[in-house]
Amino acid sequence: MIDEIKAYFPRYPSRQAVTLPALHVVNDHLRHVPMQAVVEIAELLDLHPAQVQDTLSFYGFFKQDAPHGETRAWVCRSISCALRGGEEVLEHLCRRAGIQPGETTKDGKLTIEFAECLGACDFAPCMLAGDEVHGDLTEEKADEFLRSCGVVE
Ligand code: FES
Repeated sequence: MIDEIKAYFPRYPSRQAVTLPALHVVNDHLRHVPMQAVVEIAELLDLHPAQVQDTLSFYGFFKQDAPHGETRAWVCRSISCALRGGEEVLEHLCRRAGIQPGETTKDGKLTIEFAECLGACDFAPCMLAGDEVHGDLTEEKADEFLRSCGVVE
């Protein structure tokens, strides 16, 4: 991870500017950014840990206490998706997975989160899982997704 972070140095005007990429590097590897990583990133970037923590806490994306699931699903709750049943799909996904939005299944396979507009309103209601957008969601498609994650049979 240290080498990956250092590889960003020539691409940015200052070490501080590498804060966000560094957080992403750690998150990609650990699925969260524990406090120890914040301290080590700060050391690497010649910053105070509070500066790194400020950036981390500004973005809801980074979890700090525990890793998110192997798959992290972002279900859109903005207007187009909400009008086309997004909230119902989110509720269905969470009920079937046995979690609340923002939580991870006990087996660590899936985290379900709220998202604001994903920029795919044409396919509302939709969800981003990993790098894949799932559009025109229905309860059936949601079940298929949960099966593909190994959360339900
Ligand atoms: S409102 Fe859901 S993708 Fe835009």
